[in-house]
Amino acid sequence: MSKKVKGFSKLSKKEKINWLVSSYFKNDSNAVNILKQYWNSDESLQNLHDEFSENSISNYYLPFSIAPNFLINDKKFTIPMTIEESSVVAAAGKAAKFWMKHGGFKAEVINDEKIGQVHFFYHGNKKTINEYFDFIKPILFKKTESITKKMKSRGGGIIDISLVDKSSQLAGYFQLFATFRTADAMGANFINSCLEEFANIFKNSTQLFSTKKLKKEEIEIIMSILSNYVPNCIVKTEVSCNVQDINSLEPNTPNFADKIIQTINIANLDVHRAVTHNKGIMNGIDAVVIATGNDFRAVEASAHAYASRNGIYQSLSNAYIKKNNFYFELTLPMAIGTVGGVTNLHPLVKLALKILGNPNSKELMKIIASVGLAQNFGALRSLVTSGIQKGHMKMHLINLLNKYEANENEKKLAQIHFKENTVNNNSVENFINKIR
Ligand code: MEV
Repeated sequence: MSKKVKGFSKLSKKEKINWLVSSYFKNDSNAVNILKQYWNSDESLQNLHDEFSENSISNYYLPFSIAPNFLINDKKFTIPMTIEESSVVAAAGKAAKFWMKHGGFKAEVINDEKIGQVHFFYHGNKKTINEYFDFIKPILFKKTESITKKMKSRGGGIIDISLVDKSSQLAGYFQLFATFRTADAMGANFINSCLEEFANIFKNSTQLFSTKKLKKEEIEIIMSILSNYVPNCIVKTEVSCNVQDINSLEPNTPNFADKIIQTINIANLDVHRAVTHNKGIMNGIDAVVIATGNDFRAVEASAHAYASRNGIYQSLSNAYIKKNNFYFELTLPMAIGTVGGVTNLHPLVKLALKILGNPNSKELMKIIASVGLAQNFGALRSLVTSGIQKGHMKMHLINLLNKYEANENEKKLAQIHFKENTVNNNSVENFINKIR
């Protein structure tokens, strides 16, 4: 059992590990060894990683993989992907290869507007707060110029601020609802700094309001924070080919294209399927978001809210046939950046961005969305043909062999045996026992 610990963050790394190991591992040196095994021998690199987060005691490895053969807007890409699920990168690469032969992905950023809100309460006269807002709005722009100057020079800044009356839903509740462009940054720090300044100015400038009908005590600021829901920061990507081409991809599955369309119809009416369908898309999205040092929680949260924009949770992707052409598309919100955060700090992230040709944030949005669509295509293709387990378990075989501590020779024999046989936990265990 752990004892309550005071001033933990002030302890040295060694002291933190000692505390952990004595509290949870009965001072077992093996626990220390596991933590230390993942330390980097390059001290400055290790320090850099330690400083990304408080109380860091080791590093957590995930595979850094690459998926070649992506053609996006007529440009070839090799995609860095960070993910632990064994079949994801293989599926992405396979789908990309097929679509490369059919013109590749056509992607566009539809809009890149971000949102932030100051949430406050005011119970007085509505006309007064509206007049005060009209009075203060230019001052909010003016007085945040020191924060917005640099962003403006990069093509971003505050787009607009409006007063939103939510008092019919919650007594006295209003918002300052602001929209922003943040150029190549995800923009969280910029937006939050602007919002906190808006709140401060809004609360503390009532005495400047000429009619003096408003007292600062009447405005109760609750919080100022960006919204991770960015329905106006949207990217769309699409692939298409003629129906014969897509159907000939799976000659043993009659009406392959129609079956893909039915998977979308099913996801659009059944939430259980829709969540799994979108999870498959996020397999690709998150892997690139993580490899490029972006905030996958923000991208996930926004994507799922967007999937519910019609009042029910539905598929993020769409498929249809028009004039004998099969179209497969994905539209989703995405707040990511190619500057700021760890993008300029983490050596692997810098390398990942370099592999992608150092894209700006809009280019990266298009790349990430295209990987999501490729992933979705790969998953749906397997689901309506061989089933997911065949490919998935083939890729998972090596994990199972490692679980049974197979040596190199046993692994070789297993790879041959399981070319023709079904992979599952039991069959791998039996095989290993048989050959030992
Ligand atoms: C597995 O990680 C993802 C899938 O379940 C996605 C899907 O069902 O569409 C295969």
